[in-house]
Amino acid sequence: MQILGIDIGGTGIKGAPVDTETGTLLAERYRLLTPDSGKPKAMAKVVAKVAEHFDWKGPLGAGFPAVVQNGIVRSAANIDASWIDTDGEGLLRDVTGGLPVRLVNDADAAGIAEMTFGAGKDHKGVVMMLTVGTGIGSALFIKGVLVPNTELGHLEMNGEDAEKQASDAARQRKELSWKKWAKSFDQYLQMIERLFTPDLIILGGGAVKNFDNFASLLTVRAKVVPAQLLNEAGIIGAAMAAADLVN
Ligand code: BGC
Repeated sequence: MQILGIDIGGTGIKGAPVDTETGTLLAERYRLLTPDSGKPKAMAKVVAKVAEHFDWKGPLGAGFPAVVQNGIVRSAANIDASWIDTDGEGLLRDVTGGLPVRLVNDADAAGIAEMTFGAGKDHKGVVMMLTVGTGIGSALFIKGVLVPNTELGHLEMNGEDAEKQASDAARQRKELSWKKWAKSFDQYLQMIERLFTPDLIILGGGAVKNFDNFASLLTVRAKVVPAQLLNEAGIIGAAMAAADLVN
């Protein structure tokens, strides 16, 4: 099946047509900047531009950095608050001239791709995918089945939102060395381990390009591995999440 996958992020909106059976991109991905306002209409227009770039007429799946329940956006940590309770699927359908649209949480999308084609392939245990970028996204899989919208980046750690301390953006903002950041991230993983005892933790997002700089500093019992599809996982998984729109 050929589906346009789009990864909507706080800084960039990128997409490519995906072969959902093989998990491969069918064209080079196209990326535009996320509008500064982060508001629904402005962001949706950029999604439409990505679809236009590919002259896309088929179904579209998009990953979004928020809780998405049946197409409706329910949270807004790193996007404009006016997204809350917006019918994201409806909005994208309208701006793309009526294309069939599926909208899901971005970490859930990346997790779906990793579990099918990447680091979690064939894993039947408890798998936690964490995307470490502007925020921390989470996707929990039990026997390969996703529990959507877990939002574990917002667990409280040291009295504050964990992603404000342990995301890649926090590392950059606080100008932390990898060693210092790893200490904070390890504290976060310890908390995840206490709550869910995952067999496998897959790390994706910006921080993972530097996996070798911090992997040896992590002390959790779970096996921790880098994502294999890297910055394509969000696009591939978003397309896969829309597969049921195709008859
Ligand atoms: C959002 C999540 C998202 C994560 C990664 C968090 O701030 O609440 O929905 O998955 O960032 O983008």
